Amino acid sequence: MLAFIWAEDSNHGIGYQGQLPWHLPADMQFFKETTMGNTIVAGRKTFATFKRPLHNRKNIVLTTRDAAEFPEGVAVFHSAKEVLTYYTSRLDEKMFIVGGSRLFADFLPYTTDLYRTTIEHEFDVDTYMPEIDYSQFLLNDFEQGKVDEKNPYPFKFEHFIRVKPSQV
Ligand SMILES: NC(=O)c1ccc[n+]([C@@H]2O[C@H](COP(=O)([O-])OP(=O)(O)OC[C@H]3O[C@@H](n4cnc5c(N)ncnc54)[C@H](OP(=O)(O)O)[C@@H]3O)[C@@H](O)[C@H]2O)c1
Repeated sequence: MLAFIWAEDSNHGIGYQGQLPWHLPADMQFFKETTMGNTIVAGRKTFATFKRPLHNRKNIVLTTRDAAEFPEGVAVFHSAKEVLTYYTSRLDEKMFIVGGSRLFADFLPYTTDLYRTTIEHEFDVDTYMPEIDYSQFLLNDFEQGKVDEKNPYPFKFEHFIRVKPSQV
């Protein structure tokens, strides 16, 4: 499985000034549970938002920078092709592309699963999810999030599975 996992607002916004535009603990919990024990692939800026490697997950970072700049234990890759070669050599592993924008765009033709959280609110954003042709995917799972004082915006979790190959 080569999955995307992300959260977007009503305008497909995903980031603002190098951070998430919102604080939504229920989505952070979902991210943690879904990726735990698996492999995550992050762009250098998204990885920086984690502050440290995510525990109990294999951390892969995509960057043009030198591997020595990253903490021990992090696998540093320099191209999307390198990541895809790694993925095809370990098809039994679950690999999650966790952003940002360029990674989602580069890996879109190859992704098998989409884990999308939609937050029904318009935030200030400067980073967007690339356009996805959802006709290539089937909605497999849906859950409405529970709004409460810590998670004040309506939100939903969806899992899509690819049913049509992309036209690459
Ligand atoms: N809502 C969500 O689910 C979600 C998910 C992820 C991120 N975000 C947000 O999005 C923002 C960060 O995303 P971003 O799109 O600005 O940056 P990003 O994709 O996290 O990082 C961009 C950097 O990744 C490296 N990179 C990307 N593709 C590469 C490739 N093919 N080959 C080599 N290096 C590559 C480059 O690093 P170098 O410059 O080091 O070469 C590039 O500058 C933040 O605001 C973050 O909070 C939100």
